[in-house]
Amino acid sequence: MQLLIFFLGFCRAASLAVNATGIFNEREVCQCTVTLPDATFPADRMEKLEIENGKLSVSVQQQINKIENYQLTLTGYLQKLANLTKRVEVAEVGGISYTELDFELLKLEIKEMESLVVQLKATINGSSSLVESLFVEIRNISIMVNQLESYDKNNVLAVRREIASLRKRLEECEKNQVYPTQSPISYGTCKHGGLANISKPFVVQLNWLGFSYKFGGWGKDSFTGAEQDIHWVAPLQTDGRMMNIIRLCPSYDDLLLYKRPTDKTIGYTIAGQGGGMIVFNNSIYYNCYNTRDICKYNLDTNAVERKVLTDATFNNRFSYSSSSWQDIDLASDEDGLWVIYSTEQNAGNIVIGKLGSISLVVEKTWSTSQYKPAVTNAFMVCGVLYATRTLNTRKEEIFYMYDTKTNKEGQLSIILEKMMENVQSLSYNPNDHKLYMYNDGYLITYDLSFKTLSNMA
Ligand SMILES: *[C@@H]1O[C@H](CO)[C@@H](O)[C@H](O)[C@H]1NC(C)=O
Ligand SMILES: *[C@@H]1O[C@H](CO)[C@@H](O)[C@H](O)[C@H]1NC(C)=O
Ligand SMILES: *[C@@H]1O[C@H](CO)[C@@H](O)[C@H](O)[C@H]1NC(C)=O
Ligand SMILES: *[C@@H]1O[C@H](CO)[C@@H](O)[C@H](O)[C@H]1NC(C)=O
Ligand SMILES: *[C@@H]1O[C@H](CO)[C@@H](O)[C@H](O)[C@H]1NC(C)=O
Ligand SMILES: *[C@@H]1O[C@H](CO)[C@@H](O)[C@H](O)[C@H]1NC(C)=O
Repeated sequence: MQLLIFFLGFCRAASLAVNATGIFNEREVCQCTVTLPDATFPADRMEKLEIENGKLSVSVQQQINKIENYQLTLTGYLQKLANLTKRVEVAEVGGISYTELDFELLKLEIKEMESLVVQLKATINGSSSLVESLFVEIRNISIMVNQLESYDKNNVLAVRREIASLRKRLEECEKNQVYPTQSPISYGTCKHGGLANISKPFVVQLNWLGFSYKFGGWGKDSFTGAEQDIHWVAPLQTDGRMMNIIRLCPSYDDLLLYKRPTDKTIGYTIAGQGGGMIVFNNSIYYNCYNTRDICKYNLDTNAVERKVLTDATFNNRFSYSSSSWQDIDLASDEDGLWVIYSTEQNAGNIVIGKLGSISLVVEKTWSTSQYKPAVTNAFMVCGVLYATRTLNTRKEEIFYMYDTKTNKEGQLSIILEKMMENVQSLSYNPNDHKLYMYNDGYLITYDLSFKTLSNMA
């Protein structure tokens, strides 16, 4: 419509100050009807007009050709857009790629629950009808998933709900029956003799962005006494470097069902780097992109503060062995916030810094003799640093510790089983004594158990 108006204007302008109105004929060639004021026939002006008219026709034809080209391109784009819309719609209603992904996850979860029940059965003396029935139910659900996969791709959510409830009962069952002799150590306290053992991995789910988001971190607020319903997940971009999105789920069930999320997008100037982030007292702390700074992003107000971490190396100078860009790793435990990093002065060995959660200033540092790139990850519990290394594709070992209270380091060997090969982040939450691992895109937890004080030699 606008193009037509453009040509009318064009037509008028070319009519040499004579009052003329242009119209388009059916071949879209501009024709002007000219009313001449003189009674005598002005041949010279007529000739001039004819020449102008000839020129005009050529340029109009050129414009028409251009429009035809535009139209072709536009039609192409429209087709592409229609294709894209179709694919998005399919994905939205639970289309092929998305559900295939979900079925993979379901199978993994079921496999893991099966092994858990087998383990339970072995540890429980004699027969337990509760465990037996759980076992039957899990077998049933496994069969159901296989059937669903072959003819119905829309009931994934229903199955997930059942699995979530089964899992809760399994967890309770495990708690009640497997470790009845252990005296509980209150969450948030340090009345124990250090790390004793670690449970089997517990696969919570695949991160919501899928398999290709292999790097990141997740967990709950690690500030002692913090509200524990909200779960956060922060997958890095697929380059394994930039963190600019954080998802908050209001409860564990919402996390399991990918429901009611709040996504926070962080601007590029304050984006994060690497999987060393942690949520502490309702703020997420992380290494700011392409710097040695620590950023603090308040999840309520979205306000950001940053501070230089003096002498810290960054940008893959001394990252961990199984995850790049994690030169600066935030941690928290019963004693508050920590930063695990490394410096040129300490020859790339791990430096532990006690970080003020409000000032963002390192209040005290400890230099260890453990080379940072030789460990896969590290976490803090009650002021003690624990570091892991890879044994093989299925096993990781907590092999090194450094106690900031005694300034002593030591060797130990506690084996962690992994679901996937690479550990991209590991952090401890003093509120539930769990380790949170981001394992090639999967969200995993482990329960830690501690030596009781009377057991200490
Ligand atoms: C041109 O013609 C229209 C009607 O045909 C008239 O209203 C208008 O005043 C004329 N303009 C000039 C500049 O002669
Ligand atoms: C749109 O999709 C159809 C079939 O799915 C395909 O043949 C066609 O080439 C696609 N068009 C574009 C522009 O991608
Ligand atoms: C298991 O049962 C056997 C005999 O039935 C008994 O000797 C043993 O003490 C039991 N173990 C536990 C841990 O209850
Ligand atoms: C498991 O499946 C069998 C047969 O499909 C059925 O009879 C049984 O009731 C189911 N058990 C449970 C606990 O769902
Ligand atoms: C530690 O935990 C693992 C996995 O739960 C278990 O297989 C192992 O026997 C435990 N080791 C000790 C010494 O308790
Ligand atoms: C935790 O957050 C509250 C509210 O923002 C603040 O008043 C308090 O000082 C913070 N505590 C720590 C240890 O960061």
